[in-house]
Amino acid sequence: MDISEKLWGGRFTEKPDETFAEFNDSFRFDKRLFSADLRGCIAHANGLYRAGVISETEATAITDGLRSILTSSSAPDFFVSDAEDIHSFIEGKLIAVIGDTGRKLHTGRSRNDQVATAFRLWLRDEIDTIDELIVNSLSSLVSLAERHRDAVIPGYTHLQRAQPVLFPHWCLAYFEMLKRDRERLFDVRKRVNVMPLGSAALAGTSYPIDRERVAEELGFDSILENSLDAVSDRDFAVEFASACSLIMAHLSRLAEDLILYCSTEFGFITLSDSVSSGSSLMPQKKNPDALELLRGKSGRVFGHNLGLLTMIKGLPLAYNKDMQEDKEAVFDCVDTVNISLRTAAIVLDNCSLNEQQALSAASTGYLNATELADYLVKKDVPFRTAHEVVGRAVLFAIGEGKELNELSVEQLMSFSNEIREDVSEALSLSSTLNTKNAIGGTSTDQVSSALRDAARYLDAAGR
Ligand code: ARG
Repeated sequence: MDISEKLWGGRFTEKPDETFAEFNDSFRFDKRLFSADLRGCIAHANGLYRAGVISETEATAITDGLRSILTSSSAPDFFVSDAEDIHSFIEGKLIAVIGDTGRKLHTGRSRNDQVATAFRLWLRDEIDTIDELIVNSLSSLVSLAERHRDAVIPGYTHLQRAQPVLFPHWCLAYFEMLKRDRERLFDVRKRVNVMPLGSAALAGTSYPIDRERVAEELGFDSILENSLDAVSDRDFAVEFASACSLIMAHLSRLAEDLILYCSTEFGFITLSDSVSSGSSLMPQKKNPDALELLRGKSGRVFGHNLGLLTMIKGLPLAYNKDMQEDKEAVFDCVDTVNISLRTAAIVLDNCSLNEQQALSAASTGYLNATELADYLVKKDVPFRTAHEVVGRAVLFAIGEGKELNELSVEQLMSFSNEIREDVSEALSLSSTLNTKNAIGGTSTDQVSSALRDAARYLDAAGR
């Protein structure tokens, strides 16, 4: 490349060193901002025209030229270029297509406000796509719950069987997490959708551009109020990566539960072959690779979150080239979250619960011990005393190799004078579940109402 072809070539006599160019140039990845940057360019040209900086003929030539670049972008080799970045690429194309008038486009603008504008426009659309994908996963969770409406699984703490829960209750726990993820994204979007354009390099533009009018044209909610901040703010990127990190953390926990549940040891879940892989050596294996990758890919998104924070924390105002590092981090967050959500939905749509196996696990391991304590509390035994009594009963039952509900009423009575015949009913699985009837509990009534709420939520989200 001839140095005069560079946007900033005038001041220079030597060409960039090749290694430096490879290090410095961002075109190979920021070409993803192509159409967002074009939109920003068109709005800027219109702003210049309205401000009386360029004539109507010039504005038309520029905006038509930019649109024609968009049209020709599907041509093979269109993006083959040694441009430094997407901004110089587009400007170079424009000048090639319309000639010298194209050299007026960058009036009153810097790549600093240009890149921040294109990045935000691009991210706004990606957030909307991710939002839709979250809704898909939410809907997959609800249909999995509906397919096994009355099924019961053991609930765990410390990965030890604790108390039985309805399977839909487990599905809806993840529904709640992903619902909050949507709220977080929605909130991040508000701060993404603010326009830096018109801040120029750092000090603001010298031309009477109506920034609010330009913002309106680009669908921004408002404009950034301080030019120094506008060109150097990347906290929206950190916030986005953080919202993505929580999405990935939630998907990773979901994946971990399912990995356990589809092991031979648990045997609750059967995964479809279509999302499993085999072993090159062991013919019997069917491995939950999709789930393991959902768990594994969380790390890279967490890494980007921390990388972005580290990138901005020591930057003097205003723009510094360090900030170019925001792109690949955010691009990879977008790509990883996007494919992860799509995969999660497919896994959920194609798995099934082995209801018998889950039921038998939920019926063994003293998951009704708390129920016996609550039974005694109803007979006015203080809870702490009841806890001790039941502890002894469990120890005895373990010695007998029996569940609490397999002991005779007489055997149970030997632990407390308050135990009567009605204890059998109290220890039944359905009573164990249905006593959890405060809002948020796993009783049939509560879970049915939560499923109705979930259906309403999906309806409102356009499902
Ligand atoms: N590629 C650059 C980035 O992503 C564009 C802005 C360049 N600005 C500058 N002053 N060198 O940050």
